[in-house]
Amino acid sequence: MGYKDKIDLTRLPEHVAIIMDGNGRWAKGKGKLRVFGHHNGVLSVRDVVEGAGEIGVKYLTLYTFSSENWNRPSFEVTAIMELLISTINKEIKKLMENNVRLNAIGDLDMLPGKCNKELKGAIERTSGNTGLVLTLALSYSSRREMVQATRNIALKVKAGELDPADITEELFAQNLYTHNMPDPELLIRTSGEHRISNYLLWQIAYAELYFTNKLWPDFRRDDLFEAIYDYQHRERRFGMTSEQVN
Ligand code: FPP
Repeated sequence: MGYKDKIDLTRLPEHVAIIMDGNGRWAKGKGKLRVFGHHNGVLSVRDVVEGAGEIGVKYLTLYTFSSENWNRPSFEVTAIMELLISTINKEIKKLMENNVRLNAIGDLDMLPGKCNKELKGAIERTSGNTGLVLTLALSYSSRREMVQATRNIALKVKAGELDPADITEELFAQNLYTHNMPDPELLIRTSGEHRISNYLLWQIAYAELYFTNKLWPDFRRDDLFEAIYDYQHRERRFGMTSEQVN
């Protein structure tokens, strides 16, 4: 029996975030170039997106390219950007069929023009879909996102539009890229690394963290279901005592 049948569909995390890691090591283990791992990582993306939609997860946010990833060899950066373009091109039909709404967060202006154009076109085309919201974090840095939010708020204070006394957690969150989605309740990282790597630092304040040794190209929907099953067996206390939450 797969994990799908073990999940309580009435207690799903509304938002699952994933740090897709291990493409390079997966390829190296097979004596191939790192890019081969990224290509196979796309198959995992496809399967996990379908799986998330199938059980009714509402938001799936994938760490696809960090601001730090620009420092990789230019050959690899170019290959990932091209992969992104060709994947969006190939998958748009499937996204429409599956009622998936595509979204992106990060410093998108840093992306090559063609990539940005393709991405924005797909976001526009899927904007009327009402199923899973699939967010790609691209050229994303959580610290930068928070600095940007702080700057926006400071500008409003300077212009006399905002009283510093009215700066609340809610107002801060409204100035983040993720203002239109709930915080993730579950964060998954593959490949055995136990780090957050500058991903959604504000938003994961109360998220359950799930680490698996599987490398991203080996991760499939049943692994997602296993992570959700694990999440459903944790006690989320939000600072209270066990007696209080039960
Ligand atoms: C991490 O593995 C993966 C990336 C930085 C790129 C993720 C990109 C994809 C899965 C393909 C494109 C995705 C979409 C949505 C079209 P790594 O390279 O850091 O692996 P390593 O830690 O083993 O070196």
